[in-house]
Amino acid sequence: MSQPPSPQQAARMTIASIARMYAKGERIAMLTAYDYPTARTLDDAGIPMLLVGDTLGQVILGYDTTVRVTMAEMLHHTKAVVRGTRHALVVADMPFLSYGVTPEASLENAGLLMSEGGAVAIKLEGGERSARTIETIVRAGIPVMGHIGLTPQSVHQLGLRVQGKSRDAGRQVIADAVAVEQAGAFAVVLELVPEQLAAAITERLHIPTIGIGAGAGCSGQVQVVTDLLGMSAEFTPKHARHYAELYSIIKSAAEAYQADVTAGVFPGAEQSTRMDDAILEEILAQTPVERPQMVEASRGIPLDRDL
Ligand code: KIV
Repeated sequence: MSQPPSPQQAARMTIASIARMYAKGERIAMLTAYDYPTARTLDDAGIPMLLVGDTLGQVILGYDTTVRVTMAEMLHHTKAVVRGTRHALVVADMPFLSYGVTPEASLENAGLLMSEGGAVAIKLEGGERSARTIETIVRAGIPVMGHIGLTPQSVHQLGLRVQGKSRDAGRQVIADAVAVEQAGAFAVVLELVPEQLAAAITERLHIPTIGIGAGAGCSGQVQVVTDLLGMSAEFTPKHARHYAELYSIIKSAAEAYQADVTAGVFPGAEQSTRMDDAILEEILAQTPVERPQMVEASRGIPLDRDL
């Protein structure tokens, strides 16, 4: 009897397979990834879509906002994530001002994330204001994921708060969702939108909505992987749930390692290699270790007492 394919054997996800999941009503789990080992692990876990988000700037590179992230940084991390995946569809974020200035530059940068970075699709922020850009990129054959509601690249205009609560703001989020769909996006991220509004948008659209802080009524969910894994000691957004506590696991491991090194019990016999003592004795007899010269060689390094 044939077994269903394990996540390890499943074929590479495509835009068509995401559309099939959506058509069957299967909820889509997406996570961000920024490096090879994490992408490899999430891919092995069977996560169908990985986003190389520009949250990279904050959670990996230590910037204060996503606005500082460059095309070079996005390309560097997209390549690593693509190398780590065999099955997941990789979406790369377009960084601030890499799109929406001129159609030519938007297209060129989107193309680079695919041709050089290896991504299958790109994501960009903005609804009505980005519709023309989405259309241009989609027409060139590049799949686009939209991103509306809270758009972090507009942090200096919008702040970082829930979008769409008032009548006007709610109407704008709906108009943005429709504009993104009509422009040809294959999916749209709804970030920090009230859950009822997100559910209503999900019902009206014909493409998957991928929520983050937008309630359970979306077609799928995306989370920042470092939030999911509890990797920060400082801050967890309200919409995130820790599925692991890696900060304390990594910290305890580093403390234990330091204690072992200090006590001289790492490396132990298992982590070391031995040679034939007779060979060593022979070598040492033929090659006297010239300690005076070794002391001489270390003279260039200033010691505390010399400073
Ligand atoms: O950059 C990112 O990680 C994102 C998600 C928050 C959707 O855009």
